[in-house]
Amino acid sequence: MSRKPLMAGNWKMNANHLESIQMVQKLAYRLDPADYERIEVAVAPPFTALRSVQTVIEADNLPIALAAQNVYPEEKGAYTGEVSPAMLAKLSVSYVIVGHSERRAYFAEDDAFVNRKARAVLAAGMTPIICVGETLEERDAGRTDEVLTRQLAGALKGLDPDQVAGSVVAYEPVWAIGTSQSADPDDAQQRIEMCRDTIRQRFADAADHTRILYGGSVNPGNIGGFMAKKDIDGGLVGGASLDPDTFAMVVRYWT
Ligand code: PGA
Repeated sequence: MSRKPLMAGNWKMNANHLESIQMVQKLAYRLDPADYERIEVAVAPPFTALRSVQTVIEADNLPIALAAQNVYPEEKGAYTGEVSPAMLAKLSVSYVIVGHSERRAYFAEDDAFVNRKARAVLAAGMTPIICVGETLEERDAGRTDEVLTRQLAGALKGLDPDQVAGSVVAYEPVWAIGTSQSADPDDAQQRIEMCRDTIRQRFADAADHTRILYGGSVNPGNIGGFMAKKDIDGGLVGGASLDPDTFAMVVRYWT
């Protein structure tokens, strides 16, 4: 089963729109057409920079996908401060990160809400990047697989197999995010394989099409180890995506 790898840079709450323009331009300068053939590249700037980055991507015809870091799962209405799926789709956003552990932790987002977001993203013709991952406490208690199974089942509830096949999952152990303590590639492979098996139990062969990324302190030095694993289809990259040189090295992990 061939799944085109995806390397997505999650800029989090960094970079204003001018800085974001520079970042995407520098990144594009460092990548070649051959790179894009081998791997799909996406960047997720903050909301305030989406329009600017979209304009650069379109003007320069860059094969870089635009991703959003969040969305509110309603079409429109009295939801002060929120951004709808249609608003993102209109900006040519392809991917929307849902269920990131920072949103689960700081904004109390639960599995049901993540599910609503995933459905809304799909309904608007975009692809959700659904994040799952255990905390250190859960890991130490031997509950990792149970947590991942619950988060996945919750997020994918009610989707049809085609939607699941087209979605992206990111396994991001919470203890590995922003800590420089990445997971061991063998361990990440084992967890991701378990995630794929969980998807297979509910959605049959769709599981072979779903791309599953690893995230958590990915850098140019460790990405190759993850990409060598059979079930790991790319990376969701935070800190190392903020410097275009570094992110380009992550994208071109085979060089
Ligand atoms: P990190 O973040 O690469 O800085 O650990 C990853 C993420 O949160 O998506």
